[in-house]
Amino acid sequence: MYDLLIKNADIHTGEQALHGDIAVRGGKIAAVAPRIDAAALETADAGGLLIIPGGVDAHTHFGLLSGENRTADGYAAGSAAALAGGTTCFIEHISFGPPGSLPSALVTAAARQAAGESLIDYSLHGVVQSADVDSLLDVASLPRQGVTSLKAYMTYDYALNASALAPVLKTCRELGLLLCVHAEDDHILGLERQRLLAAGNLQPAWHGKSRPRICEALAISNLLRAARQADDAPIYIVHVSTADGLAVIRDARQREQQNIYVETCPQYLLRDESMYQGELALNAVMSPPLRSAADCEALWKALAAGEIDVVATDHCAFSPAQKRQGQHNFLLCPNGAPGAGERMLLMFAAGVRARRISLQRMLEVCCLNPARLFGLTQKGRIAPGADADLLLLDPEQETLLGANGVYGKAGSSIYQGLRLPAGVHSVYTRGQLALRQGMPLAARGSGRFLRRAVSAAYDE
Ligand code: URP
Ligand code: ZN
Repeated sequence: MYDLLIKNADIHTGEQALHGDIAVRGGKIAAVAPRIDAAALETADAGGLLIIPGGVDAHTHFGLLSGENRTADGYAAGSAAALAGGTTCFIEHISFGPPGSLPSALVTAAARQAAGESLIDYSLHGVVQSADVDSLLDVASLPRQGVTSLKAYMTYDYALNASALAPVLKTCRELGLLLCVHAEDDHILGLERQRLLAAGNLQPAWHGKSRPRICEALAISNLLRAARQADDAPIYIVHVSTADGLAVIRDARQREQQNIYVETCPQYLLRDESMYQGELALNAVMSPPLRSAADCEALWKALAAGEIDVVATDHCAFSPAQKRQGQHNFLLCPNGAPGAGERMLLMFAAGVRARRISLQRMLEVCCLNPARLFGLTQKGRIAPGADADLLLLDPEQETLLGANGVYGKAGSSIYQGLRLPAGVHSVYTRGQLALRQGMPLAARGSGRFLRRAVSAAYDE
């Protein structure tokens, strides 16, 4: 006897495509087969629908504090938006704290902030804001908190350059942790800012120019050299946005540097710098900034060729009022844009439907790889023993994105006006119907914090 039997669907498990049925017991996938004839407490007919694994978003900022600005959604509304778009698990990049904050204390604070809020399962990345000896020693305690990845920023208030990151990489290598890095060269950024300030060029249209593309390539190059020196320490480069950044990564891989993982985001695939000239310029103030149409094409090509491992969102939602702080000076605009609710549909519509990538590839970068890389082996695929997190897509439905995207409350989407040739029919999380007809049914706080264990996943 199964708890749930979903019948008659086109299924892509993440590994193979078939037409048939999915059986669920105890919140886990029990069987996937062309035909399952067995009794179930509940049976659902999914004729005409495509069932894929629920999305895994490896890069969210639902609880970010940026200067005086707290993100507009928080874990409850942010996870509801993710769920509405078919994402069933996320990993949050947590906030910095006051000077001197140790990584373990920052994880404790973020875990407290998230507790009892999320509608879907989640995990946390740690963050390192100083490369001093106390921080390096403290990193060793993260696995006891169930955290096996952490982030460093090469820009912003706690910028760590490649020299500062060298000992962090060595420590992560020794402990089996995955270091995620926001790679932009802070020195050049500082100079560009001063140049624009001196010239009075502070309209939002200048945001893109304030973060030149060389910053990314240079920071990645220095970072990868430091990782090489640390015995090919595993490195996950977040939100790669330029063809130049990709070229540096390609070179390092050609020199057989191991353990390099690459993330990009839908905004760098689908939106370009022309947005800074339009009405939504403030919404597009994010770091790195939107790039050229040629960069978008280079990223699509790299995605199709398997050079990009993960598509995550960097979801960071600020309200229109918060964004308007930058209307006369983009430096005062909190950086970031929402996208957790839109990622799966965007990648399906603009990737798979538009024949830029296969469905298999989409599932690798949106589900399988982020789950595998970050040690969430129960997520990201439809296979016996995995959590029954299922996204039922309706290929006949159309989705019109408004200021709130698929669902949410930020009101500052960069995707507004887009019509997508697909829709989310429903979503199951651990075998429970969690979303139907666009409305979340999962209770606030029903998402579990997923502890992760150190694994040897990074030795290719
Ligand atoms: O502009 C962005 N991306 N804000 C979020 C913080 C970060 O850099 O990831
Ligand atoms: Zn970042």
